Amino acid sequence: MKNILVTGGTGYIGSHTVVELLNLDYNVVIIDNLSNSKMMVLDRIEKITGKRPKFYKGDIRNREDLSKIFKENQIDCVINFAGLKAVGESVRMPLEYYENNIYGAVVLLEEMKKNNVFNFIFSSSATVYGDPASVPVDETFPTGGTTNPYGTTKLFIERILMDLAHAEPKFNICILRYFNPIGAHPSGLMGEDPNGIPNNLAPYITQVMVGKREKLNIFGNDYDTPDGTCIRDYIHVCDLAYGHVCAIKKLDENPGVVIYNLGTGKGSSVFDILHAFEKAYGKPIPYAIAERRAGDVTANYTKVEKAEKEIGFKAKYDINDMARDAWNWQKNNPNGYEEK
Ligand code: NAD
Ligand code: UFG
Repeated sequence: MKNILVTGGTGYIGSHTVVELLNLDYNVVIIDNLSNSKMMVLDRIEKITGKRPKFYKGDIRNREDLSKIFKENQIDCVINFAGLKAVGESVRMPLEYYENNIYGAVVLLEEMKKNNVFNFIFSSSATVYGDPASVPVDETFPTGGTTNPYGTTKLFIERILMDLAHAEPKFNICILRYFNPIGAHPSGLMGEDPNGIPNNLAPYITQVMVGKREKLNIFGNDYDTPDGTCIRDYIHVCDLAYGHVCAIKKLDENPGVVIYNLGTGKGSSVFDILHAFEKAYGKPIPYAIAERRAGDVTANYTKVEKAEKEIGFKAKYDINDMARDAWNWQKNNPNGYEEK
């Protein structure tokens, strides 16, 4: 079976992908510097799958960390989740974001090349489409117009990957543009565990549900949408995890560089999401209408045809499943992965 190196494998999306891979009998090696995740994730992965992935505490910017892993393991494919991802923080600390995300990706690719590993999957984002001229977007839509340094790191890394695939045909690269991953593993053992006040909608709502926050602030109800709130394509993190398995299989065809949007194809408003969580909760969730948030686009959701046709990817969960599983995780782990 294939050996997959998962960078950022103890993070939110990485950990769910690791579970998916282990369940399908892939061998998994993780490198993570634990800047935004906890060791306890490994116990949870083991509890769910009965297997403990090989873990290296290390940094993708550190060549020694990487070369040790490539020497000790015959890696077939690298999935690069490692990176900083907080939009607001990236505006305040652009250099840290460019250094961690872009320099990190370049060092990782260089070390892969040195060690004859040429299969690479990259966590990109729907944010590379900026404010799309129309929805749904497909993979041919123009990229650019990112509104923050975080988004720009994704855009630049995509560009680097395209140049690399052009220059070095041995590389096979799959760029996955995630829409809005939410939800948690149905076991309630793994989920999203943001530091401090959550920036994103779903973890903010679950913290209101568990009593850690007073109410949800809805950032604007005067957008040009049916209920006035922004529309996004929310995708269950377990569906997203499975998308990486589809991508690994695609790389066997030596496709050069390929790009897929990963979403459900369905746009949901902030109120749609709030109502899905209320259904899971069985009671109303307090909210208030607040000012628009800078940088938010009115609507972004994807066409699903390309991923479905070329890699057989199809999301199976809807927003009610996402809300149920996110709530189950938060309820069972009110303080995330912290020891109680
Ligand atoms: P996360 O923060 O939970 O996971 C990222 C992991 O990478 C963390 O465990 C962190 O400790 C680790 N890490 C960071 N820098 C590192 C470095 N230099 N070396 C080693 N490890 C490092 O984030 P996530 O939500 O799981 O996102 C995973 C990837 O997907 C990120 O690249 C993110 O930008 C991308 N993405 C996320 C979303 C989203 O909404 N969550 C959307 C689109 C794209
Ligand atoms: N929202 C609120 N209140 C909150 C948080 C969010 O009303 O407390 C609204 C936002 O205004 C937006 C929607 O909920 O309309 C979704 O916001 P998120 O912050 O959850 O998600 P974004 O679409 O802004 O961005 C997310 C990730 C980005 C990623 C992007 C596309 O944060 O990193 O999805 O993948 F690039």
